[in-house]
Amino acid sequence: MLSSGRLLKLVPQSYLVSVPTVGMDPAYRVGLESISREYDRVECPVDGEIPLWLSGTLFRNGPGRFEVDDSDLTHWFDGLAMLRRFRIDDGSVTVSNRFLRSKEYTHVTEQGELRCDQFGTTAPKSIVGRLTGLLNPELTDNASISVDRIGTDPVAITETPNAVAFDSETLETTGTISPDDSVEITGSLGHPHYDFDHETVVNMGVRFGRQSAYVLFERSAEGTIRRPISTLPVDQPAYFHSFGLTEQYAVLLESPLRLNPLSLLSDRSFIESYAWDDNRESNLLVFDRLAGEFVDRFPVEPCFVFHHANAFERGNELVVDCIAFADDTVIDSLFLDQLRGGEIPAPGGDLRRYRLSLSEGTVDENTLLSGPLEFPMINYRQVSTQPYRYLYAAGHTAAHSPEADQDGQPTGLLDALVKVDLDDGTNTVWSEPGVYPSEPVFVARDPPATPDVDADRPADDGVLLSVMLDTDAEQSVLVVLDAASVSEIARAELPTAFPFGFHGQWYPDDSRAHRSMP
Ligand SMILES: [Fe+2]
Repeated sequence: MLSSGRLLKLVPQSYLVSVPTVGMDPAYRVGLESISREYDRVECPVDGEIPLWLSGTLFRNGPGRFEVDDSDLTHWFDGLAMLRRFRIDDGSVTVSNRFLRSKEYTHVTEQGELRCDQFGTTAPKSIVGRLTGLLNPELTDNASISVDRIGTDPVAITETPNAVAFDSETLETTGTISPDDSVEITGSLGHPHYDFDHETVVNMGVRFGRQSAYVLFERSAEGTIRRPISTLPVDQPAYFHSFGLTEQYAVLLESPLRLNPLSLLSDRSFIESYAWDDNRESNLLVFDRLAGEFVDRFPVEPCFVFHHANAFERGNELVVDCIAFADDTVIDSLFLDQLRGGEIPAPGGDLRRYRLSLSEGTVDENTLLSGPLEFPMINYRQVSTQPYRYLYAAGHTAAHSPEADQDGQPTGLLDALVKVDLDDGTNTVWSEPGVYPSEPVFVARDPPATPDVDADRPADDGVLLSVMLDTDAEQSVLVVLDAASVSEIARAELPTAFPFGFHGQWYPDDSRAHRSMP
């Protein structure tokens, strides 16, 4: 078992933690403010040398504006979606950013009010409108969570089934893709999985109604036609944000954060319609996606999970890794007034491993690395659904650096990147004072390794791409790190400070470019 701070192999920077002063705005606040300007393929000065094999496009998604008319949106997840595009070729970088011209965005800019409820902010509606909406809900297309592809066309995705297509060169919005009726769901996840063997995209949805249900479904990588795999009725659905996938199974961590359907009739926001039920445990729900049936429910200690990291089968055992929080208070900490205040505990959980014995019906859980950690990342193409060695995540210097004070809860945002070696129990940390990383996107060295082609190739042979906020310069930078050593190779200076983003995808310019999956 790994423990926090044990055997740090590489410490490339000093570890002065940028802790905000009471009563003052934290230095990272600029990363939580709106931006209005849109840049179109602007050249970014590069310090260092970007490897020539690194040729492709990184699309990132996240909020770009946090106000509607004169009113503030309340939660970090509510901001209007703004795409970021980083084109890397021949050692150079250009950047673009563009607001998604969703129906939500158009309505907000033209009417000065929300069209649909967002995660933490409600749209103005009468009680009649709410009743009507309960029966036939209008779901937002403010798709700010991540990026996917349908065929070769990129789309912005969120936690409703509405995806928004955009041009891969200009980022211009080309239209909202509303779902067909083949899978009856109210919500789906911004973290779909890719089944490379079957060339399908697998996702989990939830249906609210007289009979609510969790719905596991898939679509071909090339098309929009969806197919339900398995449906599990549930009385009070849990809120969930991602799930785990193995070669045969899908695993969902169902927390005690449960929906009260009557709350949807109130003025409460989507997430405030859920409440933590102290009388419930968490469950790992296992679906056999090949047989198309629900397998079993494995009770575990109460916890809340945003992000699964990886899952795989080992003999008769399912191994499920995720970032787990003790409860749902992290959601409250991501309301903008909390985040901007700066005195919050750092919003990150522990790296948790569950081992499920399908034959015995038992589950074992342990913490692989104490947090705060978030935004877990793996060499997805090579090790997703497989036993694996390396995991990357955003961490915190006050918890993960050699000088870390193990007493007390780190505050402020995550300010480091951590590489976890699950085999030898070591951690490698990168950080720089005043610099706040985003999700580290792993890009395999070209030509990319695949389980079929090169099983022996090290899974950390590649780079990490992370858009970071340099608070001293009040400027965002795209940092390229060697994934093996977690040391900086190069950084590109962006023309301004972008708001912190959520997730994205890298699409390489190689022979796989015709393929829709990353
Ligand atoms: Fe996420």
